[in-house]
Amino acid sequence: MASEKNLQELFHDTLKDIYFAEKKILSTLPKMAKAAQSEDLKAAFLKHESETEEHISRLEQVFEEIDETARGKTCDAIVGIIEEGQEVMKEFKGSPALDAGLLAAAQAVEHYEIARYGTLKTWATELGLKQAVKLLETTLAEEKNTDETLTKLAKSEVNQHARAA
Ligand SMILES: [Fe+2]
Repeated sequence: MASEKNLQELFHDTLKDIYFAEKKILSTLPKMAKAAQSEDLKAAFLKHESETEEHISRLEQVFEEIDETARGKTCDAIVGIIEEGQEVMKEFKGSPALDAGLLAAAQAVEHYEIARYGTLKTWATELGLKQAVKLLETTLAEEKNTDETLTKLAKSEVNQHARAA
């Protein structure tokens, strides 16, 4: 069926996109953790770094289920979001607003991932990829959780600090 093949290709293409994004995120999180002033924010970044390693290995299992080699494809969206985060690190270095800026950049990353994993999970369901649905769902839940943790940190600590100084 032609339409099924198209969705399969789209699924594979988007999988490569998020695989690239996750690897990029994995290499960026330690830098963000290092830059963060708040110990809680630092800890949140480090926790998500180890989760991201899991996300990558889950994606590799999804590639396996569709009999494809795990390979990334440059994702301009995540490159742009991460570049913005790096600009904040540079421009707000030593400023009390640095953590608020880092947190905002991290949430932009999470929202991108949530969008991607949500779509991939829906497509995996359509394509009858049972194992992939479970794997994508697990990662999606962790991304949402990270986003919530960041929101709580922003409200409880980071934003006040940025405003107070
Ligand atoms: Fe992730």
